[in-house]
Amino acid sequence: MGWAALVVPVLALAACTSPATTEEADVPATAVVSAEAPAALDPAAAGLEVADTSALGALPDLVTQVQQCGVADAEVDPAAVAPFEVVTAGRQVLGVHCLADDGGRTLYADVADGSVWSAQDLLTQEGQAEVSQALAAARADGGTQAGGDAAGDPAAEVSVTAGSLADLRFDEAGNLIMIEGNGAAWKVDAGEVDSLLSERGRLVRGAVRSGGEFRGITVGNSAQAHVVNAALLPPPAAPIAPPAPPAGSVDCAVAKCIALTFDDGPGPETPRLLQILADKDVPATFFMVGKNAQARPETVKAVLDAGHELGDHTWNHPDLRTVSAEQVRKEVSDTSAAIAAGAGQGPTVMRPPYGATNDTVLSVLKDLGLPVVMWSVDTEDWKNKSTSETRARAVAGAHPGAIILQHDIHSWSIDAVPGIIDDLRAQGYSFVTVSQLFDTMNPGEKYFSRG
Ligand code: NI
Repeated sequence: MGWAALVVPVLALAACTSPATTEEADVPATAVVSAEAPAALDPAAAGLEVADTSALGALPDLVTQVQQCGVADAEVDPAAVAPFEVVTAGRQVLGVHCLADDGGRTLYADVADGSVWSAQDLLTQEGQAEVSQALAAARADGGTQAGGDAAGDPAAEVSVTAGSLADLRFDEAGNLIMIEGNGAAWKVDAGEVDSLLSERGRLVRGAVRSGGEFRGITVGNSAQAHVVNAALLPPPAAPIAPPAPPAGSVDCAVAKCIALTFDDGPGPETPRLLQILADKDVPATFFMVGKNAQARPETVKAVLDAGHELGDHTWNHPDLRTVSAEQVRKEVSDTSAAIAAGAGQGPTVMRPPYGATNDTVLSVLKDLGLPVVMWSVDTEDWKNKSTSETRARAVAGAHPGAIILQHDIHSWSIDAVPGIIDDLRAQGYSFVTVSQLFDTMNPGEKYFSRG
């Protein structure tokens, strides 16, 4: 097949396989409903003048897979300029839908390292099985399909079988959208998606939900970019593009919520932590020391841009019980001002150093409009200086509604974050900021955990 054949519209049907099965499947745990197929993006969103493989030179693996789209390997012409649509471009993730007469496939590339994933790779193996089963059940129900010409016809033939999840995308609300070869689209609600996703799936969903700026397809010749792409990227001191995960779909009255908090920064390694949280699609809350916020305004802004919550942790980190009311006010308000100078907006919460308060302190904080955030799980990272112990304490202490205390000025504590997230996620926790954890928070009142 020459490349001209590849421009057959996506909606064209290939020889069809029958999806019909009369067996009653178990009712799947995952609900699939019909949905609108999302529109492709303007290629300019990915910095491309044209959406063809000539523009993807820095991503040779992606070029190869796009060229192979719907084509037997032997037929690939390496010189062919294969067409595709851009489906997402955010942070370090580029998603393209290569066009083929079986409906094509959606491929995702990480421009930081050049790796390429299929749509199925966004789901765990269990997730793939669950979505396939739920999709088959939804089809058998003859659900009305908003996105395709098979609408309302349960007998409509489809070109993608239940087991082949060739075109998976996310919308900005974090819903998982599955598009079949005939253009029919289905959706799994954002609230149900979390447990289905692989690490790559979280990375892609975080990039889509954020509306974060696309890093761009890395400059340099393709061979070099393929091998040392990461080295060509800006150093970590440059703020990482934002994930800004909206927590709108998390209801902590229902979900098993937990809040990660990081004190005493921002520090030199805070951008590294931001990248970890972005990769894991996890929001957190940062209680900043004023003098550090003043020293690193770009990091303060990166924290906010990434969708995290900003907290005030005083200017000099004193025990506030030992200073005058006026000094309490100055410690806190100067810090809020430094945070606002960096981020463009001030903190929403405050944590007293050492958790130390008295009536005077609380009265000033009430006056300043700041809820007082304590914690219910102390990793004691500053004391144990151990990644494994920090992780173990966080996970052992975790409970629904918990607030976990760490410090982003300690590299070993940052190193513990991926494991903490993985362990807690495996236990069904949803990560939220402190303000998202509580329905309402009142200035001057102390909060240790929800419930
Ligand atoms: Ni502190």
